[in-house]
Order: sequence, then structure tokens, then C-alpha cells
Amino acid sequence: MVRETRLSADQLILPLFAVTGEGVQQPIDALPGHSRLSPDLIAARAERAFAAGVPAVLLFGLADEKDEIASDAYRDDAAGQRAIAAIKSAVPEMVVISDVCLCAFTDHGHCGIVVDGEVDNDSSLELITRTAVSHAEAGADLVAPSDMMDGRVGAIREGLDDHGFTGVAILSYAAKYASAFYGPFREAAGSAPGFGDRRGYQMDPANGREALREIRQDVAEGADQVMVKPAGAYLDVIAAARESVEVPVVAYQVSGEYGMIKAAAERGWLDERSAVLETLTAIHRAGADLIITYYAEQVAGWLAEEGS
Ligand code: PBG
Repeated sequence: MVRETRLSADQLILPLFAVTGEGVQQPIDALPGHSRLSPDLIAARAERAFAAGVPAVLLFGLADEKDEIASDAYRDDAAGQRAIAAIKSAVPEMVVISDVCLCAFTDHGHCGIVVDGEVDNDSSLELITRTAVSHAEAGADLVAPSDMMDGRVGAIREGLDDHGFTGVAILSYAAKYASAFYGPFREAAGSAPGFGDRRGYQMDPANGREALREIRQDVAEGADQVMVKPAGAYLDVIAAARESVEVPVVAYQVSGEYGMIKAAAERGWLDERSAVLETLTAIHRAGADLIITYYAEQVAGWLAEEGS
């Protein structure tokens, strides 16, 4: 009765990785239990998660071919776009949030267009907006820009509205830190930068107040939800975000956070279920309304067993 924080499956969002083809399932070594899936299998996976009680997925489309201008990011028959359509037709009630970024599609692995050896903010915005519109055309309910270019939320909002997608919402990766915990994801998405790093456009882990500035700015540009990422090492930022804006705050328990628990559990060093529930409860307690986690489906199952 006196418990202050209750975790429930309807707060959870499951990340999924899409490739083209049919019947394709490529297990991801660095993310045990997760695979890159073709649209048919991803639709089946989404159906299973929905049946378990997970209401939303965060979809990452992957490239068939990478080039300088990230063509596969905004092709209407690329993996991500097909997967969105497949999920929406198999489980129309499932909320499909699509990650919008260029890093998995550029041959250099950066989140934007490179001009003279540097990521160019403004020319990247045009392609990022185009990508968001193509996801909306495929049926995405929300688009989630993770590139961290300045001004992208406003640019995407305008692009969506111009194309008649006024009802498609924006979940902005507002406070995204330049973190070591994205390691396994970069293997999953093949998106490690080929040169340099992302510190020019992701945030310094030492800065908390800067996160609030980014968050407020994204809300002012039209973000409907804001994200703090990673989650576990940034609970103070989640709490401050919850205090400073009215929109839902979403926290992303990223691939490295998943990997730490998985690896320790596999060695028998900690109990996986308790550790996962404790971390997610803490993230929720700190102020996250919604949580993206690779454990979403399992957690939904555990919560159902506990009857909460
Ligand atoms: C790409 C992106 C990344 C993640 C989500 N979108 C990686 C990065 O910025 O390098 C990481 C997610 C995870 O680690 O689970 N912009």
C-alpha cells in the first residue's frame, strides 16, 4: 500500500532492429536475446511483445548499402520503412516509434553529413527531416530523432506538418550523452563512427545543467516527449528533467546497461530478474514516465507473474 513507485508493462518500450528480406533473423552477439529481423519476423516479434503487455516499440532500420548521403535512411522501401508498415498492419494498436538518425546509413558512421571532414549541422537537417517524413509515410506514430543536430526538432515538426502529418508526434533524444554504454548497440547497428567521435554533437557526461537547456529547447521547438539517455548513470538528470518540463520524460536503458546485467547474471554474479526490476524501478522513481529497455518483454512477463 505504501509503495511509492510501481512499474507496469504499459510504461515500457522495446527496441527492435530491422533489415530487409524475408525470414531473416541475425542474432546480435553483443545483445544476447536480440536479433536483426526482416519485416515479416519483426511484425511477429512485435505481436508477441504486444501480447505480453508491451505497448510500444522503438524501431531502428538498418542499411542495405551505406553511402555519403545516407540514402537508405529515407528510401521508402528501406528496411525501417517496411518494418514500420509491417508492424502497423500486424498489430495496429502497437505504438511504433521510429529512430531517426543517419549514423547507420552513412559510410563514415556519423549522425550527419560530413563536409570538409566535419559533421555539418545544417545540411544534415534536411536529410534528417526527409527521413522523419518517410517514417511517417510508412505509418510511424512517433519519430525519435537521435542525431543531436541543433534545430532538428523544429525542422522535423515543420517537415511533418508540411506533408500533412500533423498527428505524428516527436520524441526527442533531448539529453543524449556521449556515453561508453552504447558499445553493444554500435555492433547491432554497425554504426561506430569511422573517424573521430560523437562528442561534437552528444553531451559531456559531466554536464547536468546543459541537459536541462537542451530539454527546454527541444520542448520549445515542439517535442512532445523528451528523452534522457543513458538512464542508470543519469538518474539526477531524469529527476531534474521531470521537474522542469510538463511533457512525458522517457529514459533509455541502453545496450551497455543491458549488457552489464546480462553478463554478470550469466556468470552467476547477480540475479537477473531482481537486478533488472531494481534498475527499472529506480529509473521510474527518478521521474521517467516511460522506459525504453531491451528487457521490456521479459519484464512484462515478470510483472504479470507478480500480479502487479
Ligand atoms: C544512434 C543511436 C545510438 C543509440 C541509439 N541511437 C548510438 C550512438 O549514438 O552511438 C544507442 C542505443 C543503445 O546503446 O542501446 N544515433
